[in-house]
Amino acid sequence: MTDETDLNRAARALSRARAALVLTGAGISAESGIPTFRGAGGLWEGFRAEELATPQAFAADPARVWRWYRWRQAQYGECEPNPGHAVIAQMEGAYERFLLATQNVDGLHHRAGNREMVELHGTITRTRCSRCQRLADWPEPIEEGEDPVPRCGSCEGLMRPHILWFGERYWTGTLERAYEFAHEADVCLVVGTSAQVWAPAQMALLAQQQGAFLIDVNPGATDISFSADVHLMGPAGELLPELWERAKRSPQDP
Ligand code: OAD
Repeated sequence: MTDETDLNRAARALSRARAALVLTGAGISAESGIPTFRGAGGLWEGFRAEELATPQAFAADPARVWRWYRWRQAQYGECEPNPGHAVIAQMEGAYERFLLATQNVDGLHHRAGNREMVELHGTITRTRCSRCQRLADWPEPIEEGEDPVPRCGSCEGLMRPHILWFGERYWTGTLERAYEFAHEADVCLVVGTSAQVWAPAQMALLAQQQGAFLIDVNPGATDISFSADVHLMGPAGELLPELWERAKRSPQDP
């Protein structure tokens, strides 16, 4: 349970900040109906992720990998951003300096209105040529029995989802931009991540070390929530609107 004092302390930190870093994981989209990775009913349950979300799986059977991603993309298309996404979109317009670093590939932050954003693990709205690296939009749906694997318009190579797969390195520039911002943020709001992936988790702790007030919004406990200045325990779709309303009402002077 989140108590009033914690909510008010977090609201005050948000209200005083000039530079805000927001870091999100699958939990922010849970209330939009997208299962988290590691929770009950998780996206990976029933699948061996390493069979599907790896360069090796794609090389062995691109059609299988594509069928799975087309299915996921269609599911995401039926989901809408929730009030938690809406708050993060409003935050972008409220700060002098703002960056959202998300681990999610579902595109819901973009649909909610965020633009100052690093999609650390890519996005299911884009594809990339596995040969020449050219980026393209997600392909149109296909009929039953059609080849699910799109081809590159330039070199005829196999397109792949523009998503970071297991065993792959982060793209140059993405992590760097977020880490750089972590040095200047004076508040870091973490929402809905289990902190199991080291790079984003380190980013939050680095921001805190560099002086940011660290807020974690998560119904469960994680490595980040143990270190956070405030852990707001509950669902983001309920807590973020309450927190943001208080931040807007909170006095800005120290
Ligand atoms: P996880 O599934 O590991 O963690 C989701 C977190 O969201 C958990 O800590 C939950 O307690 C929390 N949560 C659940 N419902 C929530 C709600 N309504 N509001 C707030 N929090 C809630 O997802 P991630 O941490 O995002 O990487 O996983 C990180 C990465 O692991 C993914 O991006 C993916 C996977 O490997 C790649 O695919 C490269």
